[in-house]
Amino acid sequence: MHYLLAGTPVPVLDRVDFSVATGERIAVTGPSGSGKSTLLLLLAGLERPGAGRVEIDGRSLGELDADALADLRRDRIGIVFQSFHLVPSLDALENIALPLEIAGRADAHERARALLDAVGLSARAAHHPSELSGGEQQRVAIARALAHGPRLVLADEPTGSLDDRTGEAVADLLFELCRRESGSLVLVTHNAALAARCDRVLRLHGGRLADA
Ligand SMILES: Nc1ncnc2c1ncn2[C@@H]1O[C@H](COP(=O)(O)OP(=O)(O)OP(=O)(O)O)[C@@H](O)[C@H]1O
Ligand SMILES: [Mg+2]
Repeated sequence: MHYLLAGTPVPVLDRVDFSVATGERIAVTGPSGSGKSTLLLLLAGLERPGAGRVEIDGRSLGELDADALADLRRDRIGIVFQSFHLVPSLDALENIALPLEIAGRADAHERARALLDAVGLSARAAHHPSELSGGEQQRVAIARALAHGPRLVLADEPTGSLDDRTGEAVADLLFELCRRESGSLVLVTHNAALAARCDRVLRLHGGRLADA
C-alpha cells in the first residue's frame, strides 16, 4: 500500500498478512508513522491496497464498488477514527443515532440514548461536538461505532484522549459490546495494558509486521 503525494508514491505498508477470527480481539501497536491508521483504513475499505487484498466474511473488498462497500460498512463494520469524525452540526445523541437511522432502525433514538448512558454521557445528549471535551467526543465516537452491532470494530487509539480511569471504563465497554455481539475487534493502541487485554498483538514497524 502506498499513498500518492503530488504524484509521488509514499510507501506505507508492505507484505502485511494476517486474519482476524470471529470474536477475536487484536491489538495493533507500533511507532508513529508505522502505518497503523492506514491499516485500519484498508480494513474498512476506505483505502485500497496497491497489491494484495482485504477479505471480510470471504468477500474481497477490491471487487466491491463504492455502494457495496458503503453497504458493507453500514451493516458490519464500526469505526472509531483517531480524530473522531463526529458530525459537527449534530448533537451527541443525534451523532450516535445517525447510523441507526441510516440503517432504518425504528428504535434509533432509544438505542442511542442507551449507548450514551453506557459511555457515561447522558447529561451531554444535547451538546454538539464543539461543546464536548476531547474525551467526551471520543466516547460519543465509540458509542456511534458500536450502535449498529457491527461484526468488526476498528478502533484507532480509542482511549488516547482519556485519563486512565475513564480509558479503562471505555475499554471495558468496547470489549463488552464486542463480546455481546460476537464482534471482532482490531484496536490500535499505545497502551500496553490495553494491548495485553487483547487475544493477540500485531506490531508494525516501518510498514512491516514484526513479531510481537
Ligand atoms: N494521505 C496521505 N498521503 C501521504 N502520506 C500519508 C497519508 N496518510 C498517511 N501518510 C503517511 O503514511 C505513513 C503512515 O501513516 P499512518 O497514519 O498510518 O501512521 P500511524 O502508525 O497511524 O501513526 P500515528 O501513531 O502517528 O497515528 C506516515 O509516514 C504518513 O506520513
Ligand atoms: Mg494513526
